[in-house]
Amino acid sequence: QEQSERESLFIALNFAKDFFVKNLQTEEGRSIGLSYFKERGFTPQIIEKFDLGYALDGWDQLMKAAKAAGFQEEILLKAGLILQREGDASRTYDRFRGRVTFTIHNISGKPIGFGARILTKDKNQPKYINSPETPIYHKSDVLYGIYQAKKAIRDLDNCFLVEGYTDVISMHLSGIENVAASSGTSLTDGQIKLIKRFTNQVTVLYDGDPAGIKASIRGIDLLLEGGLNVKAVVFPDGEDPDSFSRKVGSQAFQDYLKENSRDFIGFKIGLYKDEFAKDPIRKAEVIREIVQSIGKIPDPIVRSVYAKEASGLLQIEEEIIHAELNKSFIKNS
Ligand code: GTP
Ligand code: MN
Ligand code: MN
Ligand code: MN
Ligand code: MN
Repeated sequence: QEQSERESLFIALNFAKDFFVKNLQTEEGRSIGLSYFKERGFTPQIIEKFDLGYALDGWDQLMKAAKAAGFQEEILLKAGLILQREGDASRTYDRFRGRVTFTIHNISGKPIGFGARILTKDKNQPKYINSPETPIYHKSDVLYGIYQAKKAIRDLDNCFLVEGYTDVISMHLSGIENVAASSGTSLTDGQIKLIKRFTNQVTVLYDGDPAGIKASIRGIDLLLEGGLNVKAVVFPDGEDPDSFSRKVGSQAFQDYLKENSRDFIGFKIGLYKDEFAKDPIRKAEVIREIVQSIGKIPDPIVRSVYAKEASGLLQIEEEIIHAELNKSFIKNS
């Protein structure tokens, strides 16, 4: 019976998922992987819910097990589970070694890739190693955690958008299930389309560091362009949803989200208000940036509502905002 390549890849990914999950119960997995997860406050239930696992430390642990189970090397390569040695393609080895693993699921819950985190503080190695693009894993169309979140996103009509795997997991531990991660890459149209299948409202919860704030600004504009209603929360410097929720506890974390959710105008004013209190030129630049964001909103009525809000908050005549909006429309058409 002929099996399609995609089908073989799904089966290989599922085998690897089961292997990594089982490894967590081996002696090595318990003492290294499981204890790492415990230190981060991950419970057995959450480990199971997200198919967290452990890649054994060795060059070919997964490859040996997969070959014994009948998988061809070619499929393991295509699945991104093994790599060819540089200069000697006949020699292959496991991509994920001695790391805890985060299974990436598609919308229907099938494993399509992995993120694998280092357990030491070794600065010469990347913190996370991720699956490459494959025929079943198109990074730009995937959000980590969407499978576990989709029902809550629909029910609550909002999607919290975070940067990382551990942010998703810690938020579930805090009782918040409508959350998905862009996994460190900048947000794409494919990811926005995915969110729009479940809700039209996104709350951006990126890390409270300069990179996270920059990514929020860019992400907000893209979400506005996609016709979504966007809010954002800024965390204290150096905190992300994972670290902050563990620091303050789940109740205080939920309260913080409620009290600090701002629409995109409030978010930008909050970022820059100290600067422009002293500097009118800087204020003019910020106003222009906000008007440019408003100009990205496809719905003219929504656009007009935000123009009014911006006028009030920034204390600038609404006509000036509309004039500026018209200018950028002429430029863009
Ligand atoms: P923890 O340190 O485990 O809490 O991870 P984090 O999610 O807070 O990491 P960070 O904020 O640095 O990065 C956010 C996301 O970007 C991660 O969850 C990964 O998906 C991705 N990422 C981080 N570091 C790397 C890396 O070294 N390589 C790649 N490819 N992706 C990374
Ligand atoms: Mn594609
Ligand atoms: Mn970060
Ligand atoms: Mn982070
Ligand atoms: Mn973190």
